[in-house]
Amino acid sequence: MRDTIEFIKEKIKDFEPEIGIILGSGLGELADEYCDIAISYNDIPNFIKSTVQGHKGRLVFAEISGKKVVMMQGRNHYYEGHSMQEITYPVKVMKNLGVKKLILTNAAGGVSDKVQAGDLMLITDHINFMGANPLVGKNDDTLGERFPDMTEIYKKDLIGIAQNCAKECGIELKKGIYWANSGPSYETPAEISMIKSLGADAVGMSTVPEAIVANYCGLKVLGISCISNSASKTGGEKLSHEEVIATTNRVKEKFKKLVVNVIKNL
Ligand code: HPA
Repeated sequence: MRDTIEFIKEKIKDFEPEIGIILGSGLGELADEYCDIAISYNDIPNFIKSTVQGHKGRLVFAEISGKKVVMMQGRNHYYEGHSMQEITYPVKVMKNLGVKKLILTNAAGGVSDKVQAGDLMLITDHINFMGANPLVGKNDDTLGERFPDMTEIYKKDLIGIAQNCAKECGIELKKGIYWANSGPSYETPAEISMIKSLGADAVGMSTVPEAIVANYCGLKVLGISCISNSASKTGGEKLSHEEVIATTNRVKEKFKKLVVNVIKNL
């Protein structure tokens, strides 16, 4: 960790980010539009590079709405074969850089009747069904407890702020529970029916590892999903990555506007 922090601090000098954002599918543009300093993951000691198409792989520092922000333009996923510890390392780096609040964004399949493709959904809680936990292994007592509480990962006050911002901007915002699978395969109809009956509203392949680690080390988390598709297809229609990307592209202006306004009020 020390070499990572020393390397980044050398590049950013006295820039001290207070807000971290992990940009999911479609939101990556935010880091093109607001970019004061960019560092490629490839150059940062102990970082892994991103391989999924459409994910750039840069740590971008910028002032947005008067707040100092660090963005991950492209995230690494468990399904790429990286360990849970590897994919959540950047969250610990953000903590060490002084970040206090973390906005996690993603694309997710809509499961419950509450959400439809094109909706934005605030994550109120999650269900970790990835079959792994990023806190497995020796605990670093300087970061957090061995058995950390997870009763309110997605902070109610941040959810309230996001809801007020959405109202002001005229953006409709849903609320719901995010279910995480490891991927990379999408769910079968039987799995979706199980996920639905167990109370989740959306399903995806990211966010939960980062949320667990962020909460563990004392970062306040806000989670927003872009519902990119209906996960519960009943008429035999197929789901493709292209459909997910097409929806996130269609929704990105609304998503960016919301995030920029939320940052202003955090
Ligand atoms: N399932 C899992 N992950 C996803 C989906 C989905 O339907 N859509 C976007 N990410």
